[in-house]
Amino acid sequence: MKILSFETSCDETAVAVIENGTNEFAYANDSNNMGRSGLRVLHSAIFSQIDIHKEIGGVVPEVAAREHIIKIIPVLDEALTKSGVSLQEIDAIAVSNKPGLISSLLTGTVTASTLALALGKPIIPVNHIHGHIYANWLDRDADEIQFPIVVLTVSGGHNELVLMKEHCSFEVLGETLDDAAGEAFDKVARLIGLGYPGGPAISKAAVNGDKYKFDLPRAWLKKGSLDFSFSGLKSAVARVVAVHKIDTKFQADMSASFQEAVCEVLSEKLLIAARKYNAKEIHLAGGVSANKRLREVVAEKAVSSFVMRYPANIHYCTDNGAMIGAAGYFMFVKNPAVYTDWKNVEASAGIS
Ligand code: KG4
Ligand code: ZN
Repeated sequence: MKILSFETSCDETAVAVIENGTNEFAYANDSNNMGRSGLRVLHSAIFSQIDIHKEIGGVVPEVAAREHIIKIIPVLDEALTKSGVSLQEIDAIAVSNKPGLISSLLTGTVTASTLALALGKPIIPVNHIHGHIYANWLDRDADEIQFPIVVLTVSGGHNELVLMKEHCSFEVLGETLDDAAGEAFDKVARLIGLGYPGGPAISKAAVNGDKYKFDLPRAWLKKGSLDFSFSGLKSAVARVVAVHKIDTKFQADMSASFQEAVCEVLSEKLLIAARKYNAKEIHLAGGVSANKRLREVVAEKAVSSFVMRYPANIHYCTDNGAMIGAAGYFMFVKNPAVYTDWKNVEASAGIS
């Protein structure tokens, strides 16, 4: 089965073609070449608007919407050409329809619905966060992944702990009460004079920094809470910044100290949830799952108790079309009859 998938919820115009069942990673693990499954990315095309939004230091919704309209057809063309798959060979179309910037989401949903109508193909609306979660099934032997899974999904727009007892079942165990982790990275990077997006800039600067230099707060919230809060940490950084000269040394030390505070809270709560719900696996997903230190800290804590996974390719951590196709694939297989009508696809800024 081949899925064409669209992602335009924020500032990446992304289209991918993925295929199930012919996964080379799956075959490598199965001497009989039988009975294994996997989702292979045939091509994941992305036009990132980062360079455009960099100047302002954040995403400008009107600018993002205009860029999506300009780029969606060239990006679709690239996905089809480089995957070598024609529109007629596509079996179903998946598109992220929520949450996100409404003016950005519309480009993806209108393009996908139009194609579904014109080609008479099924169309699957996908929650962007579920897409991030399913990035962990891409280019990997899907039969090896064992439920229950606790997923830490962390990016610029969301920050959740999710329990998956089976496919397409998402129980939110905890979420951020204010800033998402990626948002905190972006805001702190701006405070200390590093570029946008803040996550990659901070993790790079942190390599040369002293993580013990600044004693920043960790918001554990009330005992047993699986929720998160990062706004206090950001304010603490702002107070230090107000009385310090910002030079390269300061940027490095603050980046390392801040990153450590975020990773400590994220990893600790992930492990508490994994133990509480007897998870077999713990997964990292979303833009912040690209963070090396987060992966290290979680791996240290998870050692021998849980299988730990993060997306097989770093490009599947941040927004991409392939992850939307992966979630769409499992939704479709579970309930194909639901996804026949292109009119059912509505964009929504919020979660519902
Ligand atoms: O998933 P994503 O592309 O978009 C949203 O759904 O929000 O995530 C983008 C976020 C940004 O806040 C960015 O700073 C953060 O992910 N990010 C990182 C890293 N790479 C991207 N945060 C920490 N470390 C990284 N290496
Ligand atoms: Zn995202």
